[in-house]
Amino acid sequence: MSIISFFQIWLQGDSLKPLDRSFAQWFRFQGGPTTKSHPLLKQKEAWNQVRWVIRNVEGWIKKDIEKIHCPADFLRLARKNLATLESWFAQNPVQNSGAGTQKYFSPPWLYKFFQNRLNHPLPAFPQFLTFEPGLFIRLNGPQHLESVTVELAEQKFTLTKPAGHFGFPQGWCWEIQGHRSAYLLETHQQGRWEIQDWGSQAAILKLPLRSGQKLLDLCAGEGGKTLALAERLGTKGVIWALDIHANKLEVLKKRCGRAGFFTIRPLAWDGDRVPSLGKEVPKNLFDGVVVDAPCSASGTWNKDPEAPLRTFPSDVEELANIQKHLLDEGWRNLKAGGHLLYITCSWMIEENELQTEAFLGRQPQCALISQEYLTQPGGGLYYTALFLKKTD
Ligand SMILES: C[S@@+](CC[C@H](N)C(=O)[O-])C[C@H]1O[C@@H](n2cnc3c(N)ncnc32)[C@H](O)[C@@H]1O
Repeated sequence: MSIISFFQIWLQGDSLKPLDRSFAQWFRFQGGPTTKSHPLLKQKEAWNQVRWVIRNVEGWIKKDIEKIHCPADFLRLARKNLATLESWFAQNPVQNSGAGTQKYFSPPWLYKFFQNRLNHPLPAFPQFLTFEPGLFIRLNGPQHLESVTVELAEQKFTLTKPAGHFGFPQGWCWEIQGHRSAYLLETHQQGRWEIQDWGSQAAILKLPLRSGQKLLDLCAGEGGKTLALAERLGTKGVIWALDIHANKLEVLKKRCGRAGFFTIRPLAWDGDRVPSLGKEVPKNLFDGVVVDAPCSASGTWNKDPEAPLRTFPSDVEELANIQKHLLDEGWRNLKAGGHLLYITCSWMIEENELQTEAFLGRQPQCALISQEYLTQPGGGLYYTALFLKKTD
């Protein structure tokens, strides 16, 4: 069956589903190898074709593009133009995909939005959307290097150190490539390593840490950064891992169990006020706080080709309000002399520099220690700001 059948199915939904996940489901339905495989790993070429079509979508609904104001508009127009897409496919055999196309997907409203708001040279952004994302891993301890290397080699995965070394600790940040599901490898199931973006690993290193410290991770989610923190902290100390989504914390608990990390305390909260955490953390004051805030994720949109179709300026405004609240709440629970690390994977200044500037304005006791964009090899952008709570 051709890729066009995938698009037909994708466009039938009531809402715009994440393309990556829909593609994995479709591929499985076609008799693809596994259920949990990372689609980029197992069907790189087909996935590239899908990404290529999305980047050209602007072309085949060009005459209507100004009428798109929300994802539902896109779905309606795309369905209406399905015949055009089919004939376009007939004239552009998919085997010729990938190379050569300079087009990128950019609805005009989004383009203007970025033009007005990005503090990066604009040509870089569309180019970035075409980058093929890499797959990075982090070992849960350098002692696992040998067994992991052996299994990856047996399973015909390549394991390389990416460019941009960044002073990663031993065992951190390897890039892997292979043709089967990385998640299903035995050493992964045993909790010896995690899949984690280069930028996510680099970001968490920004927080100064000492053994025995008490840390608060306000947006722990499934625990990508929490586990990295735990690996850095060692057996002494404690990390309270909060998130508003209890189901994400269930995944975090499983990962902690597999990796053998006993310093992490998962807790679901309402996102409003951090509840009292008892005697372990007197007065709820922590040595360090991480706010890995919900954001537009525009810094990782190269993994998510249809994300620009789902994102509008109003979403960024809403997210910026949540980020503001989380920063203030994290600050309230930080000791004098402690550090707060703010992280996003966004390109937008509202979520990054402007957020930082406003925070400094609200908190007179706050000193900005560093503010940085971390550019992942092969695409992917993370923003970090590190704040110190002054003691005087
Ligand atoms: C960028 S993700 C965190 C990713 C995670 N730290 C990791 O490294 O895997 C942001 C998290 O914030 C949570 N979140 C979303 N809305 C929130 C809100 N209003 N208040 C607090 N947390 C929220 C989400 O559930 C999500 O897990």
